Amino acid sequence: AKDKPWGGRFSESTDAFVEEFTASINFDKRLYKHDIQGSRAHAQMLGKVGLLNTNEVEQILSGLDAIEHLADNNQLEWKVSLEDVHMNVEARLTDRIGIAGKKLHTGRSRNDQVATDVRLWLRDQVDGISHELRRLQRALIDLAEREADTILPGFTHLQVAQPITFGHHMLAWFEMLQRDFERLQDCRKRINVMPLGAAALAGTTYPIDREYTAQLLGFERPARNSLDAVSDRDFAIEFTSAASLIMMHLSRFSEELVLWTSAQFDFIRLPDRFCTGSSIMPQKKNPDVPELVRGKSGRVFGHLIALLTLMKGQPLAYNKDNQEDKEPLFDTVDTLLGSLRAFADMMPHVQPKADKMRQSAMKGFSTATDLADYLVRKGLPFRDAHEVVGKAVALGVETGRDLSEMHLEELQSFAAIITADVFEVLTLEGSVAARDHLGGTAPAQVKRQVLAARELLG
Ligand code: ARG
Repeated sequence: AKDKPWGGRFSESTDAFVEEFTASINFDKRLYKHDIQGSRAHAQMLGKVGLLNTNEVEQILSGLDAIEHLADNNQLEWKVSLEDVHMNVEARLTDRIGIAGKKLHTGRSRNDQVATDVRLWLRDQVDGISHELRRLQRALIDLAEREADTILPGFTHLQVAQPITFGHHMLAWFEMLQRDFERLQDCRKRINVMPLGAAALAGTTYPIDREYTAQLLGFERPARNSLDAVSDRDFAIEFTSAASLIMMHLSRFSEELVLWTSAQFDFIRLPDRFCTGSSIMPQKKNPDVPELVRGKSGRVFGHLIALLTLMKGQPLAYNKDNQEDKEPLFDTVDTLLGSLRAFADMMPHVQPKADKMRQSAMKGFSTATDLADYLVRKGLPFRDAHEVVGKAVALGVETGRDLSEMHLEELQSFAAIITADVFEVLTLEGSVAARDHLGGTAPAQVKRQVLAARELLG
């Protein structure tokens, strides 16, 4: 271990397997840009308070630029012997600029450094994810506007319940994603707090200026407690929890798309470029994208449990356990970004099949509630109306007809107060148009909600 940045007190080299076992460079090299960003700010702060001179700060800054450039071009050799991204970057810096490089770690520890890197990285990822979420939301608004009048059956228990509009259905997904968006923004506030200055755990004896470093890095403020700063990973758990909710929503949405593309529903068409075929069955066109998103939700839920379990039972302050936070977090971000991107790309090209959805809505007596409401308006108590319509439905089931396909005399045999105007409420169009209040499925309401949604997104 003599060759290590921390080798002073060691009398023999690290066991070769232990070196590999404890190293994180193979995955945390992904943080190099944010590690360098943090080091730049730290060096500038050390310069400001007089711990480094101007010349040293300049050497460090240009050295870090050169290292970033090399890494950007895949020309930096990451060494397992240097354990992690922090020591790799620092060792490279010292190779290049000598003494000044050795001064960079003044008043800093890898413990506050890694917590800072992950926060900087995650903050950027939250912004990228928010962008994709917005893209998907916009696609849903456009679709809702185009299909504000298109009718499909609404389901409860996956049985036809009442007719609804396709636009209304799309806006339901919009609302869920809006809450998801807000959750991410809220989580971002707690990510955006700076650990740097906590050093290993207790703070540092140098006259550091944490406000200045925080300002350079765009953090809202420095963390108030050094022990908390180096050991808190709840920001990552909170993010993964928000990500899990998004994946849960996308999984439900996926399930609907999978059902809707089946020959049995046949409600929508997905363009060929979002589907794949079968190597044996020539006729197949499979909705792989939604299926895969549905499946991928499981890995994100798994990462949430992994992170919770990782943190549970850890005493203060930093423990090596925390190195295990990265792979679940990275994979959560990759999975979520990919899933959102696939949806945002695909949704504008979903083609609803209005005829098929209409036929399907005609099949399940979806206007039965409308007939009951009609009878209530004519003076029958709702429970009696429910009973009457139930009997009419039984006749429909027996004779294979919708309520709107029965003769007036037949309907009157169930309730004499029924008159010819009943057919206006038995149509699908009449049914949806009648639900014309805030939150209702009427096309007029969908158009209003589309405007409100556009305004919300700005
Ligand atoms: N690779 C470590 C991590 O990811 C960096 C911090 C290590 N600190 C330490 N004292 N061993 O957490």
